[in-house]
Amino acid sequence: MHKVVRNFGHIARKNAGLRGRVISIFTWLFGVPNLAKRSQMQDIFDVVAPETDDIIVDFGPGSGYITIEFSRYAKSVIAIDVREINIDLPLVIAQKIEFRCYDGKIENIPLEDGCCDKIFSGEVLQAIENRIELYHVWQKSLKDDGRVIICQGVGRPIIERAFQNKHWLIKLLARCGGPATFDEYSSLLNTEFRAKDKNFIPQEKIIEELVSSGFEIESIIPTPSDAVVTILEWTQYILKTLLGRARYINHPIVFMLVYPCCIFAKAFSNKRDLDYGILISAKMRDR
Ligand SMILES: C[S@@+](CC[C@H](N)C(=O)[O-])C[C@H]1O[C@@H](n2cnc3c(N)ncnc32)[C@H](O)[C@@H]1O
Repeated sequence: MHKVVRNFGHIARKNAGLRGRVISIFTWLFGVPNLAKRSQMQDIFDVVAPETDDIIVDFGPGSGYITIEFSRYAKSVIAIDVREINIDLPLVIAQKIEFRCYDGKIENIPLEDGCCDKIFSGEVLQAIENRIELYHVWQKSLKDDGRVIICQGVGRPIIERAFQNKHWLIKLLARCGGPATFDEYSSLLNTEFRAKDKNFIPQEKIIEELVSSGFEIESIIPTPSDAVVTILEWTQYILKTLLGRARYINHPIVFMLVYPCCIFAKAFSNKRDLDYGILISAKMRDR
């Protein structure tokens, strides 16, 4: 089993300016400050289970920090995004990773038929107009025994329940200009995430679309654990409502304050009932 390392997603930045060097020292010491993904990464490793002869596609890698983690164990990783990824990789990592950029049109996805063993996609589905077409491209590019692994946020159940129960903090922040309803909050979040829809894609819809495109679901696990979800959801809600940006959840200061609580919460309970994020593993049905 691959363990999440202390300096998760760290890349030594050569020739970086002062800011780059400070970031580099921070990530070397503490890893990339992405609270949700850091809390989900052990689950991701367990399900993706990268092996030495695996060619893995990281579809929508963002800044590439998960790509780097996969490259530690896989034979090679192809990272495909609509944004140019420009990172100065050390040679030993650069030899294993290929970054490919395309224009976002499904027919132009730069993947050859039967080229990979696993496709990982983290928080990308909300940006895709026609997911069924995408799944067909994925199927063509997977080897016969290949798998797709999707990690996707599907809701904010703790905050939704807090709105329903008229939690005092929700009422207080609504008085200070915060969202009046959960739908409003969900819409604010998804607008910031540049999602095609103002609501999260429900888990059932993701499964239904995968199955109707010819995938067979191997496993679905909620991720991270409920205790961690509770911390992440409230932190994000407070940041979004008071400071206007949910993404501040990944600010290094927030990370330093909140991540220790997540580690403690995870040790305390690993119960998983909440539909915050799911990790799906699926293989092709008819091959
Ligand atoms: C929220 S980030 C997720 C980054 C990373 N996978 C993670 O889990 O943290 C979504 C990424 O998907 C990329 N993306 C959006 N539309 C895409 C598309 N049609 N094809 C490939 N990547 C896309 C975005 O550019 C962005 O890098």
